Formats: sequence, C-alpha cells, structure tokens
Amino acid sequence: MKITVVGGGYVGLVSGACLAKTGHDVTIIDTIPQKVDMINSGRPPIYEKGLEEILKSCVGRNLCASLNYDSVAESDIALICVGTPPRPDGSANLEYIESAAESIGREIGKAESRGVHRFRTVVVKSTVPPGTTEKIVFPAVMKGVGSCATADELSIDIGFAMNPEFLREGLAVEDFLNPDRIVIGSGGGKAKDAVTAMYEGIGTERLYCGITAAEMIKYTSNAFLATKISFSNEIGNICKQLGIDVYEVMKGVGMDHRISPFFLNAGAGFGGSCFPKDVSALVSLAESSGIDPVLLKSVLGVNDAQPLRMIELLEKRIGDISGKHIAVLGLAFKNDTDDIRDSRSIPVLAELIKKGAKITAYDPMATAAMKTLFDESKVIYCANAKDALKDADACLVMTEWPEFTKLDAEFDGMRSRVIIEGRRILSVKDKEGICW
Ligand code: UDX
Repeated sequence: MKITVVGGGYVGLVSGACLAKTGHDVTIIDTIPQKVDMINSGRPPIYEKGLEEILKSCVGRNLCASLNYDSVAESDIALICVGTPPRPDGSANLEYIESAAESIGREIGKAESRGVHRFRTVVVKSTVPPGTTEKIVFPAVMKGVGSCATADELSIDIGFAMNPEFLREGLAVEDFLNPDRIVIGSGGGKAKDAVTAMYEGIGTERLYCGITAAEMIKYTSNAFLATKISFSNEIGNICKQLGIDVYEVMKGVGMDHRISPFFLNAGAGFGGSCFPKDVSALVSLAESSGIDPVLLKSVLGVNDAQPLRMIELLEKRIGDISGKHIAVLGLAFKNDTDDIRDSRSIPVLAELIKKGAKITAYDPMATAAMKTLFDESKVIYCANAKDALKDADACLVMTEWPEFTKLDAEFDGMRSRVIIEGRRILSVKDKEGICW
C-alpha cells in the first residue's frame, strides 16, 4: 500500500519505518527540514533501538521523508501521528491534529480535481480524547477538501479510522512489529479493510471496535498502567515504613494472573511523554464531563510526591543539603532513551538546586537534553558515574540504566557512602531504596 505518515516524531517515525519494513511504500511528512534531511539520509533524528537499521535498508527504496503533503494524492492511507501536547489545564492541545487533517483534506481535494480518484483512509494514530476523530478530524479533512474541490467532486470517497499506538520508547520498533494487539476503530467497511490490510505483515490479535472506543482504549490503557505504578509506589511507601520489602510483596502479588507481574516496580514514579500527559488529559476530560476522577487524580498526586521522597530520605541521612555535594545518576525518564520528558530527575534536580546543593550528574544518553533545562552553572555534568561520584556526600540513582547495576568500586570515591536508589537496580552494599 501507499502510506503517508504525518509527523516524524517518535510515533510517526517508528510507525513509518516499520510499515516500510513490512513492505509498504511510505512517505513521512514533517515540518522540520533538518529532520526530513536526516531521515532521507538514513540517519534517525532520535535514538530508538533497531530504527537506524530499518532506515538504512528502506530509505531510497520504499521510505522517504518530505516537507510537503504531495504524497497524500497517491496514498491509500494518511496516518496522523502529530503531537497532542498538554495545555496548561492538562487537556490535550489538538491544534496540530486539526491542521494536519485540513492539510490532508486539501491535498485530497487537489488530487480529485486533477482527476486522481481513489479511496483514501485517514487514520488517527495520535493519542486523542474520545470524539476527536469524528468531531475534529472529519470536519477538518472535509474543510480542506472543500477548499480545493468542486461540489461534484465532494462525493469523494474518504474513510476514517482510529488506530492507537502502544509503543514504549526504547522498545518501540519491537513493540510495533510484535504488538500484544492491534486496535482498529472504524465504522466498518472499506476503512476497516484498509487498516487491516496495512497490518497484514504483523501477526497478532486484532480488536475491531468503534472509533471513540479506540480513542478511549489508549487513554485507559495508559491510565491503568500508571495506576499500577502509583499503586505499587504507595504500597512501597507503606512497606518501607513497616520494614517490609515491597519487591518481595509485589512478586507475590504479580503471580496472580488477574494482576500480572508487569508494571509493579516501585520507585520514584513514572515519567515520559505519555503517562503524565495522558492521565492529566483523562482527568481534564472527566472533569469537563462533570465526573470527579478521584482515583486518577490520586495516581498523579502519588506520582508528583514520589520524587520528593528521595529528597526527604536524603535529608534524613545527611541533614541540611545546602553546600553538600550530591551526585545524581540517571537523567533520562527511563533507561535506553535520551528522552527526559517528565523525568523524575527533573523535580529532584530542581529541589536540590533550590536547597543549595552542589550537584554532579551523569547519564549515558540524556546529558545534552538535561543541559537545556539546567545549564552547567547549576549542574556539573560528568562523562561517567565514577567522576560524578568522586567526593560526593551522597548519591541519588534515578534511572534504571543497566550499566548502573554493575557499579561497585566507583562508590568508594564518595566522601560518605550515602547511596539512595529511586529504582531497585544496585547490587552494592549500604544502599537504601526510596521505598524498600
Ligand atoms: C508508555 C506505554 O508503556 C506505551 O504503551 C505508550 O504507548 C506510551 O507510554 P513509555 O512512556 O515509553 O511507554 O515507557 P514505559 O516503559 O511504559 O515507562 C513509563 C514510566 O513508568 C517510566 O518512567 C518507567 O520508569 C516507569 N515505570 C515503569 C515504573 O516506575 N515502574 C514500572 O514497573 C514500570
């Protein structure tokens, strides 16, 4: 099939590349010229395991990037993968969705008036509040079409569908090619068939449902996973107070197949581009529908408080933080990514700075990103963990990087051996966990 992917961010780029890998002819549209150039030269603008290999093998063959929407004319599917960033009140900003939809419509209108007729399906992959595909995307596409095509041509054949993504950063390529399920929301008919055909190369269970249900499935999945984490963190906080190992507890709890062992790891809370944003959007959606989402608000509340527990623990161990040298290991919101969006390290660094600590920090990939938030006058960024730990009064381990599990003699360079971990990964003695 010919597929146009609108948006070359994590979701669009990974989806576009993987669809090319499964044999489709894919064009990725982005507004940033440098990004388009990088993709067209086979270099991924973000780090994602396995992505570079796919770009190298498909670019120049059946994958390219473009600054314009020309490819929509010949495409069977236009996949909308633009961002839905949070507004100040937590609700999703749908501006980019609307403008992408209108641009797609304009291109369809132009193509039809040139006599290029075909059935095209507009598929929303971005995470959007229920109702967006029908109430915003559909009218925006039709507005775009209307601005370029005559009344006769407005009998144009366009289908609409919603197909949420469930990609984890760092494992996005693997998740796309081996998903637990593919959710296809549509009104049935040719749109459903088109999206089904797009996934022909991927063997897994399909769930066919309505468009708004598909939109809600994405928010609900992320909210449920975030709830599991906040729940584990709350239990972890209780366990720590009672002197019980929360990891032993959750191991036993997760053996119940109704609960499953995943996403029960207690720690400093969840970050990333999805969970905090999506739970906030769901809270805002609930409130605007007259529902008080008590549970979801608590999920966010536990998550906001959790990183500050690292600081409380630190103060319990070393007293006043002012003037003390604190090493922070791990800046990315999780391991295997250079992404710091909503990383739990951010509130921790902000609090340490506020309290007057001297901070050294190390992350295998995310240093450059964190420098844009806290410059080198506030945080001394080191080239490795050993340098960050040298002469430190205490150390906070924030991210689950596998290389931190091997740290040992590096801690000997600290002035005092106060080691607090926000994820359970260290194997050295004298460490203390945030909730274990
Ligand atoms: C998530 C969803 O998993 C994915 O399906 C969705 O499409 C996008 O959002 P991602 O944000 O990339 O993916 O990372 P994920 O691995 O889910 O972790 C999110 C956060 O939760 C990280 O900060 C991670 O450290 C934290 N986490 C995860 C925990 O604190 N405990 C756990 O047990 C698991």
